[in-house]
Amino acid sequence: MSSDPDKLAKHLKIAQPDNAHTLPASLYTDPQYLTQEFKKIFENTWQLIGHESQLKKSGDQLVAQVGCIPIVAVRTQTGQLKAFHNVCRHRAGPVAVENNNNKVLRCKYHGWTYTLDGELRSAPEMETTPNFDVCQYHLPQAKITTWQGFVFVCINKDAPAIETVFKNIKETIAPIDLKSMHYHHTDEYTINCNWKVYMDNYLEGYHLPHVHPGLSKLLDYRSYKTELAEWYSYQHSPITNDNENNIYADGDAHYYCVFPNLMLNILPNRLQTNVILPDGHDKTKIIFDYYYADTDSETTKKLIKEDLDFSDEIQQEDIDICEKVQIGLNSGSYETGRLCMKRETGVLHFQNMVRQFLR
Ligand code: FES
Ligand SMILES: [Fe+2]
Repeated sequence: MSSDPDKLAKHLKIAQPDNAHTLPASLYTDPQYLTQEFKKIFENTWQLIGHESQLKKSGDQLVAQVGCIPIVAVRTQTGQLKAFHNVCRHRAGPVAVENNNNKVLRCKYHGWTYTLDGELRSAPEMETTPNFDVCQYHLPQAKITTWQGFVFVCINKDAPAIETVFKNIKETIAPIDLKSMHYHHTDEYTINCNWKVYMDNYLEGYHLPHVHPGLSKLLDYRSYKTELAEWYSYQHSPITNDNENNIYADGDAHYYCVFPNLMLNILPNRLQTNVILPDGHDKTKIIFDYYYADTDSETTKKLIKEDLDFSDEIQQEDIDICEKVQIGLNSGSYETGRLCMKRETGVLHFQNMVRQFLR
């Protein structure tokens, strides 16, 4: 696939529903675009880095990566949440290497030490260095905020308000209350495909009958709907209860895909967050965090086990198809394809946002 700039410019024009086509294969196969995506997409959007329960006490520190930039989020002495570039002003070492609790941020490399407000407080053996003043150094700050107990960071200071991004989600899923869910555990998957292959796949139910026979029994494909909002697409379906192995309570399955790389899979009594992180242009890390309304009773423990087994089965089916799609994209045989406007409006919405951010 050529990376001819004119051709690319054509593909980055917003695609209209009457001629909806996919992003070009080169955006999935050419390593040069990943840095642009990090800078233009990941550093300009809110990125989920953890849960407030991980930053409860003053001194709690949470490390993450946002686009190209390592980040450390902290709870300061005065109880504020702050986020800094995890890049020491001396020679770019890390001021935090893992989630931790400490009164200061001390660089792993030569021990320069910053307060939890990001100000350099001491720098060993620098006293005799001419024209050096600790007061002149501080860690660059990133924006940090919370929504429903989740912690988000944005590198760009002009990020939209988090309420704008998540507009109406809380109201739509009521009476489900995400704030009342408790963290259970994390699963990680590594997939041999570009991150957008995984996103595209999540954004449509078109593949359900072909890729997920088990899930198709649980969801009603005919009632499966996709709705679009400014920052996310929302797929939902009633859970069908004619299946004797049904492990979830009555209600709806809500699938939110928030631009660019966050998924909220909400079922009655359970929430899964998926964060999709590119690890090179053809490898992707998926972080699944599981939350439940109640984690203690025997019935819940059984439900949790079944939920995990079932999610893992679906995930393996998705991994398998995504890796095959990447092979197809790499083949040189394919440039772009048409999208189904009955089933793939979420894909079009996502890909148009990618186009908009990359232009
Ligand atoms: S790089 Fe941080 S102290 Fe040297
Ligand atoms: Fe799937």
